[in-house]
Amino acid sequence: MSRLKKLWRLLPLLAVMTFLLTGCGDPTLSALQPKGPVASEQLFLMKLSLFIMVFVVIVVFAIYVYVLIRFRKREGDNSIPKQVEGSHVLEIIWTVVPILLLLVLAVPTVSYTFKHSTNYNKDKAAVHVKVTAHQFWWQFEYPDLGIATAQQLVVPKDKIIAFELISADVSHAFWVPSLGGKVDTNPGISNTLYLQADEIATFQGRCTELCGASHALMNFTVESKSQADFDSWVAKMKAPATVPATAQKGEELFKENCMSCHAVTANGPGVAPNLKGFADRDTLAGILEHTPEKMALWIHNPQEQKPGNKMPAFGKSAGGKLDDAQINDIVQYLQTLK
Ligand code: CUA
Repeated sequence: MSRLKKLWRLLPLLAVMTFLLTGCGDPTLSALQPKGPVASEQLFLMKLSLFIMVFVVIVVFAIYVYVLIRFRKREGDNSIPKQVEGSHVLEIIWTVVPILLLLVLAVPTVSYTFKHSTNYNKDKAAVHVKVTAHQFWWQFEYPDLGIATAQQLVVPKDKIIAFELISADVSHAFWVPSLGGKVDTNPGISNTLYLQADEIATFQGRCTELCGASHALMNFTVESKSQADFDSWVAKMKAPATVPATAQKGEELFKENCMSCHAVTANGPGVAPNLKGFADRDTLAGILEHTPEKMALWIHNPQEQKPGNKMPAFGKSAGGKLDDAQINDIVQYLQTLK
């Protein structure tokens, strides 16, 4: 088979790869579709370095091909070509051009690196969020507002969100590709980061440090709201819960079985996710659909949904002590946690 034919056979593979790679662009989880200034500046740096690399490759290959053809050995010509060793002109060209290219890359990279490490944690105009990573969930505390939530970070649009990040157990890493990042969360040492959302939307976040059996399931979301909607969310989080009569049985069961870890208060403690406002969240445990069926499934045996997490199974057939009716009562109560 001719060489050309062999290459031709690779074409379908290339076509399939093109389709697969274009599928990577989920708009809520893509550093290539920035939705905030930090992410936009980081994308600019990616494009700049890509442009410089492509430019170098094209120029070098063009010269290479030109030299290969123009100065090839011709029949009957046995003369020694002109020797360029020690040519000052050439030495200067191939030293100065890379230096200039590196400067073009280095100046914006260094300046954005410093800009993006600005610590806004003392800035009164920023919204402060303390992020604590746990195996395998995220806790978001707002120390200035006296509230805490989990799995779904809520932020006002167009405002700098100043994060202080730490881990309660092993190392994790916090990343919201649409808004920028990412940064490690370590036990005992806090890191800082700031992000800002330009749009009212929900973005996806991921843990990007291998942290155990359910590392790949340690997802969270970031919901950006208008300032007015954010303020009313804060007020709602602080308002005392009202439990309808139909959910009181579930509340009793919840108090007996769940309250040693989960809180349902504005700024509940962080052994397990604070469930105040749980009914308004988009996902369950960051990965499951927010439906009564999935909630029951989760309480029955959370290890099946997210292996290695710290919540024990409550369903009788999974070794727990609650029957299906009791689990359903708890689910009914959870749905009232607005
Ligand atoms: Cu937490 Cu990976």
